[in-house]
Amino acid sequence: MSKKILVTGGLGYIGSHTVVELQKEGFDVIIIDDLSNSEEFVLDRIEMITGKKPEFHKFDLKDQTKTNSFFQYNKVDGIIHFAASKAVGESTEKPLMYYRNNVVGLLNLIDAAKENEVDNLIFSSSCTVYGQADKLPIDESAPFKKAESPYGKTKQMGEEILEDYAKAFDKKVLALRYFNPIGAHKSTLIGELPKGVPNNLIPFVTQTAAGIRECLSVFGDDYPTRDGTAIRDYIYVVDLAQAHVKGLKRLLANENKVNYEIYNLGTGNGSTVLEVVDAFEKANNLQLNYKIVGRRPGDITAAYADNTKAETELGWTPETSLEEALRTAWEWQVSLDGSDHQK
Ligand code: WQD
Repeated sequence: MSKKILVTGGLGYIGSHTVVELQKEGFDVIIIDDLSNSEEFVLDRIEMITGKKPEFHKFDLKDQTKTNSFFQYNKVDGIIHFAASKAVGESTEKPLMYYRNNVVGLLNLIDAAKENEVDNLIFSSSCTVYGQADKLPIDESAPFKKAESPYGKTKQMGEEILEDYAKAFDKKVLALRYFNPIGAHKSTLIGELPKGVPNNLIPFVTQTAAGIRECLSVFGDDYPTRDGTAIRDYIYVVDLAQAHVKGLKRLLANENKVNYEIYNLGTGNGSTVLEVVDAFEKANNLQLNYKIVGRRPGDITAAYADNTKAETELGWTPETSLEEALRTAWEWQVSLDGSDHQK
C-alpha cells in the first residue's frame, strides 16, 4: 500500500512542487494549508500535472483543536512541514505574527504528531540560519549566526525545537536548509505567486521583463565580490522538491542513524546579482532594465552551499542549470499574463 504523507503548506511555492514529485513517486498526499499565501486553484493544477487530486484540508495549524482532530482521523506515515510565513521584511514589522505562525504552528503540529505516533518529519529551514558564514562554501557544521530578522530567528528556533523533540521522543527529523529556490514547473501550471511587489530577486526580474515593474534595482555593487554585487546559490525548485522525496524515503527506510539530521540544499555554485541578470537575458533572449542602487539593509555578501552531505547521504544532485531554471521562471511569468497575482 502506498504511504500517506501530510504536506503542510502544500499549496505554496515549494510545497506544491514537492506534492507533484511525491505523487510521481507513488506517495498518497494530504495537504493542510490555510491559503494565507497560496491559492486553492493550485490543487487543480497539481491534478492537471499528475492526474491525482491530493486530499485538501483548509485550516491554520495555530488552531490546536483542528490540528489534533486532523491527526485523530488521518493516519499518516510522514510529514513535510512547509507551512510558515516567509517574508523577511514583514517579519520585522510583525514579529509576533511570525513567532505565532512559525513557532506555535510547529509546536501544535509536533504535539499532535507525537500523540498520534507519527515518527517522520521533514522541516523547511533556510540558509538564513548561517547569516554571513565565515567560510565558503557553507557546510552543515557552520554555526548559527545571530539572525537579522524575526523570520530568521523562527527558522533557528524551529530547528532547535525539532532537535530536542526528535531526541526526547525518539522521532526522526530532517531539517533541510534551502539556499535560494527559483523557477517553476516546466508545465507552467505551478510556480511562485508573489503577493504585491516581490522582495525576492527572480520574481522582481521576471516582472520587470514583463513590464509590470519599470526597473530592477540591484542592491549594492560595492560588496567584496568579483563584480561587486552579492552572491547567492540559486537552486531550481523542482530539484529542491526532489530532495524532499529522497529525504523522506531515507526516513521511511530507517536509513538515518541519528534522530536529527541537517542537509544543505543548494547547487554549490554562487552567482552574483549581475550574473543572474546576464543569465536571465541570455536564457530568454531579452534585455532587462536595471540600475545599481544602495545596499539593502540586512543583506549578506555571499552564501553558497557545500552540498556534499546531501549528495552522498541522500543521493541527491541538482540537475538544472541556472539558465534553464531562469527560462522556466520566465515561461511561468508569461503564463501569468493578465492574472491578478502580480499587481
Ligand atoms: C537575492 C539577492 C539581494 C531583490 C531571502 C531570505 C532567505 C530566503 C530567500 C526564504 C540579494 C538581491 C534582490 C532586488 C536585488 N528565504 N536583490 N534586487 O535575500 O538571499 O534571501 O530569500 O524564504 O531566508 O533572506 O534572497 O531573492 O531577496 O535576494 O539586487 O530587487 O538579490 O540584495 O543579493 P535573499 P533575495
